[in-house]
Amino acid sequence: MSICSIEAVAEAVSKPFWFQLYVMRDRDYIARLIQRAAAAQCSALVLTVDLQIMGQRHKDIHNGLSTPPRITPKFLLEIVRKPAWAMRMLGTSNRGFGNVVGHVPGVENLKSLGAWSAQQLDPSLTWEDAAWVRDQWQGKLVIKGIMCEEDARLAAELGADAIVVSNHGGRQLDGAPSSIQVLPDIVRAVGKSTEVWVDGGIRSGQDVLRAIALGAKGTMIGRAFLYGLGAGGEAGVTRCLQIIRNELDLTMAFCGVTDINAVTSDILYR
Ligand SMILES: Cc1cc2nc3c(=O)[nH]c(=O)nc-3n(C[C@H](O)[C@H](O)[C@H](O)COP(=O)(O)O)c2cc1C
Repeated sequence: MSICSIEAVAEAVSKPFWFQLYVMRDRDYIARLIQRAAAAQCSALVLTVDLQIMGQRHKDIHNGLSTPPRITPKFLLEIVRKPAWAMRMLGTSNRGFGNVVGHVPGVENLKSLGAWSAQQLDPSLTWEDAAWVRDQWQGKLVIKGIMCEEDARLAAELGADAIVVSNHGGRQLDGAPSSIQVLPDIVRAVGKSTEVWVDGGIRSGQDVLRAIALGAKGTMIGRAFLYGLGAGGEAGVTRCLQIIRNELDLTMAFCGVTDINAVTSDILYR
């Protein structure tokens, strides 16, 4: 559900990029989307499996988040207080959802998009559907949103090249364990056959190192880069990555390791 289309991203980047997929009820549309990702030479498909129904997001409810946004006095006040941002938004053509608008019959604007996406998430998704996605996509497949050993094994059996242990940044099920809590058991279950990555709460290089020490092969970030983006645009995202990298480097030095591949749980203080 990105603002820019796969094709627009492909045109703008010179480095490998991935495509993240939610499986919708309209399987023809999903098959076409996967073909578009292949045609744009995405180097990996990330299938997210933990958002077939939307969690109850209390802050979104409280803030009245909606598609399209409701024009309220508060909304207008926010725009008036940020004139530079408002001018940039007026000048951009990226105000829709580029992979959907114009690609689904009847979805031409934000209003029809809101209605379409609300009824399109498919709550009946099963591992058979994930196998169908595997068949459609010949490239590297990452399955994101795994929180238990059984699902990790099923993802590995399906031929996932990597899994992401994730509870969607705590945005789905209140009361779910944290991803770092369940990581060690999942690594023990499938770590030899599949790469195990983790996300959720990674805010610093120390967080990255803790996850690696608990067996993750890689970590991903959500909010951290968004904070950088909000504070400083593209340069802010670069700065965010630099900060995390420097903290990782420094913490490794304090732990007496120089090679990330040599990090084990021995560096953790229990
Ligand atoms: C604003 C926002 C939008 C997100 N949208 C998606 C999405 O479209 N697909 C997806 O797989 N995960 C999405 N996520 C979840 C992230 O991919 C990631 O799992 C999570 O943010 C990691 O936790 P962190 O924010 O603590 O780093 C979103 C997260 C945020 C905060």
